[in-house]
Amino acid sequence: MEAKDNAKKKLKLKVSAIKEGTVIDHIPAKNLFKVINILGLDKIENQITFGTNLDSHKLGAKAIIKVSDVFFEDMEINKIALIAPHAKLNIIKDYEVVEKKIVETPDKITGIVKCFNPKCITNNEKITTCFKVIGKAPIALKCKYCEKITTEEQIRMI
Ligand code: CTP
Ligand code: ZN
Repeated sequence: MEAKDNAKKKLKLKVSAIKEGTVIDHIPAKNLFKVINILGLDKIENQITFGTNLDSHKLGAKAIIKVSDVFFEDMEINKIALIAPHAKLNIIKDYEVVEKKIVETPDKITGIVKCFNPKCITNNEKITTCFKVIGKAPIALKCKYCEKITTEEQIRMI
């Protein structure tokens, strides 16, 4: 193996391999903790390892999360599309990558995001937000209640 390949392998192993579970790669470093929150990883007891501020050509600084023994439903994982649109999932079984998936932006988003409109009922009463996704790149969310549009830069998580 060439020295360059060797160096590349070592760089990858900054976060050790897992036996079973899901590796979520290519998360923008600045959104790592949002991803952890959205997936509720702060509430489970499985082993989780992560690395952040790793070099990535595409993202500048990326983060990676490895969750042992957890295999997410598509619907669940797609919730992170808003803040990690280029995330790649690797499903690991017995140390091998058995499947690769990409996240897809859902057509409807319930909860997770705040409506940008301060006058919206969802910002003033205990009502769960609900948006229709009217644009995916960049993201544009139309509020079901006030019909105002929250753009990608305006997205604030609940
Ligand atoms: N991985 C892991 N544990 C394993 C196998 C793989 O944590 N038992 C991680 C690797 O560290 C890597 C990701 O899963 O971050 C994908 O592994 P692999 O497909 O082998 O890497 P690449 O070929 O570099 O895939 P890609 O270019 O799609 O990132
Ligand atoms: Zn609204």
